[in-house]
Amino acid sequence: MSEFLSDADFELYRTKIYDESGITFSATNRAILESRLKERLREKKLESLRAYFDLISRDKEELKTLLDSVTTNLTRFFRNQAHFDAIEKYVVPELIKIKPSVGDRRIRLWSAGCSTGEEPYTLAMLLTEILPPGWSFEVVASDISLKCLMVGKEGFYPDQRVQGIPDSYLGKYFERKPGGYQVKEGIRKTVRFDYHNLKNDSGLKGLDVVFCRNVLIYFDEAAQKATIERFWEAMAPKSFLFIGHSESLFGMNTRFEFMKTDWATFYRKFA
Ligand SMILES: C[S@@+](CC[C@H](N)C(=O)[O-])C[C@H]1O[C@@H](n2cnc3c(N)ncnc32)[C@H](O)[C@@H]1O
Repeated sequence: MSEFLSDADFELYRTKIYDESGITFSATNRAILESRLKERLREKKLESLRAYFDLISRDKEELKTLLDSVTTNLTRFFRNQAHFDAIEKYVVPELIKIKPSVGDRRIRLWSAGCSTGEEPYTLAMLLTEILPPGWSFEVVASDISLKCLMVGKEGFYPDQRVQGIPDSYLGKYFERKPGGYQVKEGIRKTVRFDYHNLKNDSGLKGLDVVFCRNVLIYFDEAAQKATIERFWEAMAPKSFLFIGHSESLFGMNTRFEFMKTDWATFYRKFA
């Protein structure tokens, strides 16, 4: 057992983090929490975990910093290509078929847990490529990590982070800068980055596509279910939900229907 993080303190912090964000710590990832707490105490020049707990109980900004520090932000452009194939070959053609009947030619997408922006920018580039004239789209990109959101807003990615982007996209949608590439303004303007904690209601409505990939994996089942319920409320009838390929709503008793296509699996809100 660690001397720094006693069982009682582990319990105190994991409960607080869970209550505030849905992120769950167990014995297996206890060391990660411990190392993040050590960093925060060093940064704030505090001696004890109890003093730091008092701080996060009264200082909302420091609480946000702690939550930010315990997130895992791994992402990349065109991550799980099959999902983007499904968007191109199935989802967008479906939306183009059904939306004009209600006089709507705008597609609304949400990248929930967008990390540093690679996922929402991939969606924005793809939609720009495939939407026929007369159609438009918007992408809301949200995360609990302010650091990640800042990277996303700037849209600058060092050379090693643009691997996986087809050359044609890199040439068309990025500007070469020293040490990397920046997403061109035309695409940046289509993505709205916003701080949002998935524990809370987003206030979004009428979404056609929700991407929440590799986020639910950090939540326990109760937090996953509550998040999925909030997605349902934010989504339009006949809309689409994508979760990570190692995640599943199986056994969760949601109203979403599982869909298997030639390209990928995802969920649909039919009602
Ligand atoms: C592993 S990344 C996934 C990024 C992207 N969706 C992908 O699949 O490549 C998980 C992201 O979820 C965010 N996250 C975790 N808990 C969250 C919460 N309660 N509310 C909003 N975002 C959260 C993290 O900050 C992190 O950026």
